[in-house]
Amino acid sequence: MGSVSHGEAPTTTQARGVEDNDMSTSALMDDEDFAPLLTAVRPFTMVCEESLLELARQVVAVQTLGIQGDFVECGVWRGGASFLMASLLRHAGIRDRRVWLFDSYAGLPAPEEIDGGRAGAWARNTQGPTYFDNCSARLQEVQLAARELGLDGYTEFVEGWFEHTLPAVRGRIGQVSLLRIDCDWHASVLCCLENLYDQVSDGGLVILDDYYSWDGCAIAVHEFLGRRHVPYRIESVFGKSGAPVCAAIRKGGTGWNATWSWIYNRDRAIREIHSHILATDPFILVDEGTLEWTRSVERAAIAFPEREGRYVGPPADDAHAIAELQRLRTSGVKFIAFAWPAFWWLDHYKEFQAYVRSTSRVVCRSDRVVVFDLTNG
Ligand SMILES: C[S@@+](CC[C@H](N)C(=O)[O-])C[C@H]1O[C@@H](n2cnc3c(N)ncnc32)[C@H](O)[C@@H]1O
Repeated sequence: MGSVSHGEAPTTTQARGVEDNDMSTSALMDDEDFAPLLTAVRPFTMVCEESLLELARQVVAVQTLGIQGDFVECGVWRGGASFLMASLLRHAGIRDRRVWLFDSYAGLPAPEEIDGGRAGAWARNTQGPTYFDNCSARLQEVQLAARELGLDGYTEFVEGWFEHTLPAVRGRIGQVSLLRIDCDWHASVLCCLENLYDQVSDGGLVILDDYYSWDGCAIAVHEFLGRRHVPYRIESVFGKSGAPVCAAIRKGGTGWNATWSWIYNRDRAIREIHSHILATDPFILVDEGTLEWTRSVERAAIAFPEREGRYVGPPADDAHAIAELQRLRTSGVKFIAFAWPAFWWLDHYKEFQAYVRSTSRVVCRSDRVVVFDLTNG
């Protein structure tokens, strides 16, 4: 129960169907498009809104990037977070992935000493506002909710203690694109990592809902990664308030551009540029070669500065940058877009910045990109 919301306990009669509509997978990338799906699953989860929104983004990103495999949640309670993943599959019309819902469907095991005093206090406070009957929900109740939400066919329920079910069933799952671990205590989290981590695809995500909530979860993660000598970074996922809501590990890379937040920002930047520059308009992309634009987007962007189409490193000085831009402008290039990895250029090359600003107009400015229209000074 990483980031617990203290809403009313749901009943299945509150279930609202996840309506089909004409949203395409790409349209779902906009946060406001997730709203109806989040509303529909809200009664069935204690995961906070911000974490759910991030999960929706992650599910879509995994699909868009073609990361292979099913979605797995270990620790589902009433099923809401898993239902969100399943409803995103349904909206995208994806039939070859499923969501696996592993749970005892009988509540949490008792915390152990390693889980810390707070966990023990939580378990003893059976009248507490976040106790939720020891986080128990019956399998039939969760299955009924899935059915009422129209998610039959996208979900696979596995009932029992992880130590028995995970080794027995993992062979049927195959590759996993997103593994969501939300089972609070040290032994449970470690069991999930030991049984499923190896099946997570390259580029896939492991979401650790309780990393910031419970000491036992954090210890299990550190223990597992340390024991395996795994170099992948643990990344904090932040809510709007600036507080971390969960943690994520992206398998398959170790640099800053291998993280989930990098992938997300890159995708947003590409979309922002798309929405301001027509496919037919040639444009310069100042990104220090980091967005791997041509690999991810069919439309060509001109590297800057470039030789024979390749990025050749930052300009030697302002004069070099201005001369390059003038050359490209004369050849008909209409826009220049600065992406955040190269924002430092705007401070460093002051005369270049002054030249760009005085001879063109800003048409898009966000935390990730600034786009100038070179035809309109
Ligand atoms: C905090 S709840 C999960 C919250 C849920 N993801 C949501 O969307 O609200 C934790 C769940 O983990 C399950 N759980 C914890 N340890 C387990 C274990 N070793 N085997 C099976 N289920 C376990 C509990 O039954 C409980 O449903």
